[in-house]
Amino acid sequence: MSKPLFSVLITGVSSGIGYAVLKVFHEAGWQVFGTVRKSEDGTRLQSEFGERVHPILFDVTDSLQHHEELIRDLTGRLNGEGLDVLVHNAGVAQGGPLGWQEESDVRQIMETNVLGIYKLTRAAIPLLRQAQSSRMILISSVSGRLVTPFLGAYAASKFAVEAFADAYRNELAPLGIRVVSVQPGPTSSAIWVKARAIKEKYLDTPYQDILARQEQFISNAESRALPVEHVAKVVYHAGTHARPRSRYLVVSKPWLVRLAGLFPDSLKDRMVMARLRKAKKW
Ligand SMILES: NC(=O)c1ccc[n+]([C@@H]2O[C@H](COP(=O)([O-])OP(=O)(O)OC[C@H]3O[C@@H](n4cnc5c(N)ncnc54)[C@H](OP(=O)(O)O)[C@@H]3O)[C@@H](O)[C@H]2O)c1
Repeated sequence: MSKPLFSVLITGVSSGIGYAVLKVFHEAGWQVFGTVRKSEDGTRLQSEFGERVHPILFDVTDSLQHHEELIRDLTGRLNGEGLDVLVHNAGVAQGGPLGWQEESDVRQIMETNVLGIYKLTRAAIPLLRQAQSSRMILISSVSGRLVTPFLGAYAASKFAVEAFADAYRNELAPLGIRVVSVQPGPTSSAIWVKARAIKEKYLDTPYQDILARQEQFISNAESRALPVEHVAKVVYHAGTHARPRSRYLVVSKPWLVRLAGLFPDSLKDRMVMARLRKAKKW
């Protein structure tokens, strides 16, 4: 008997990149399971896409036990078939000067962006192995290659995602699971709106002026941001191409990011300081 449908599980499909990834897999005829944190998001997606899209209420910061329950539920719904693609997309990006950033924010970033991937992967490996040849895609970031001030905790989480991607790629390949990291640069999503709250939060720090200017920087980056559909296409390619690359850098000028990665720290520091100095005399 032939396999009825290919299946994908995507975390964080309420908005942004996750929503666009859901859409592209749905349009290609896949059965899509997507996690949301609010039931109204699930209802909205269900009525927009109808059958073949199955919203699941889930928070990736929940315990490992909850992740195992999610996968048990999915195993039942897949009726003996394996899971073809798992996309770890859910993420948060609170910024802030690291020396002042709230511990709760840093924990939230690590729990969501890093431990969420660890727990869901641990729970999902048996179901991924059950598919003929499966994929796991980690939505990383250009911040997993280059660190910018006021995004230290977020960048640390994405560097951790990159380390996970390398370890999982080698460990899971012998089990028939290919692992791919997708590294978007600035992409139009709600994440920018959330990032804007940074100035108000750190009014009583030495970075007040710089953070005010940072808002301008965020607006500039946002105006150059790629559409989410662009990233979603790359994710679909990574999930379906016969020989996907291990990493996809999704930015408008990939050569510039690669070149900046080769710069010595002293040069990178001079460039960053020049930008910061425009805001404040040091
Ligand atoms: N936008 C960019 O410029 C950019 C660049 C590089 C990488 N990325 C990465 O792309 C991914 C998606 O971000 P986005 O830009 O599309 O932002 P977004 O629109 O804010 O989407 C984030 C998604 O993650 C979900 N989420 C957050 N915390 C969660 C949790 N604890 N459990 C389950 N789901 C949770 C959100 O759900 P709620 O709606 O319930 O909050 C939302 O669906 C993230 O991993 C981000 O780091 C984004």
